[in-house]
Amino acid sequence: MEEIITSMPRIGDPAPEFKAITTQGNLNFPKDYSGSWVILFSHPADFTPVCTSEFMTFAKLEDEFAEANCKLVGLSVDGLYSHIAWLRTIKEKIIYKGMKEVEVKFPLIEDITMEVAKKYGMIQPGESATKAVRAVFFIDPKGIIRTIVYYPLNVGRNFEELYRVLIALRTSDAFGVATPADWKPGDDVIVPTAGSCGVAKERMENTVDMTCYDWFFCTKKLEKEKIFEEILMKN
Ligand code: BEZ
Repeated sequence: MEEIITSMPRIGDPAPEFKAITTQGNLNFPKDYSGSWVILFSHPADFTPVCTSEFMTFAKLEDEFAEANCKLVGLSVDGLYSHIAWLRTIKEKIIYKGMKEVEVKFPLIEDITMEVAKKYGMIQPGESATKAVRAVFFIDPKGIIRTIVYYPLNVGRNFEELYRVLIALRTSDAFGVATPADWKPGDDVIVPTAGSCGVAKERMENTVDMTCYDWFFCTKKLEKEKIFEEILMKN
């Protein structure tokens, strides 16, 4: 088997740069998204059912992501004309969970040479040497990768979870907090762990704006409205 050279960008790395052709014109990535959040995601192939259901779901949620200042960019190792034909078919024929006549307005990158897919570690030969896995890269307004999620070929993504991750990242940045297991906007958030004995003591004595179960586990309230007021349409 021919060896596939692929790099695996990590959380905290600058997003690898590339130029590409998409269904919405030329793209210079991540430069074109400077100042905005962007989700770059790959799918295995056009004209496949799981990918079709995913594209329809993402297209339906595009405005919600846009309100949180996050744009969407898709990629598969198919060509431009295949992408165009597939997106037209989705709009004309496919109905999924009540969604129909869905128009995919975000760009879909053509990557026949797999150049971009390999740069982003989307070709994982144990799963497939010819199709990209379902990768999702969350990239912040400074072009830094902040979260990476991978799904295999045969499991469709949960887009509510992807939205939740975006809002959690933005909440964490805006309010200097962390988000606990299964957090949703409106749930209590985690106050960063005390980094000194003095702060640990203060935490245990503070009963005003946080609840400390022990010096390292403190939570506080953060209203959903406050979060969305702060982050919607802002960086
Ligand atoms: C799909 O999107 O349906 C699919 C693509 C590649 C392998 C398996 C399923």
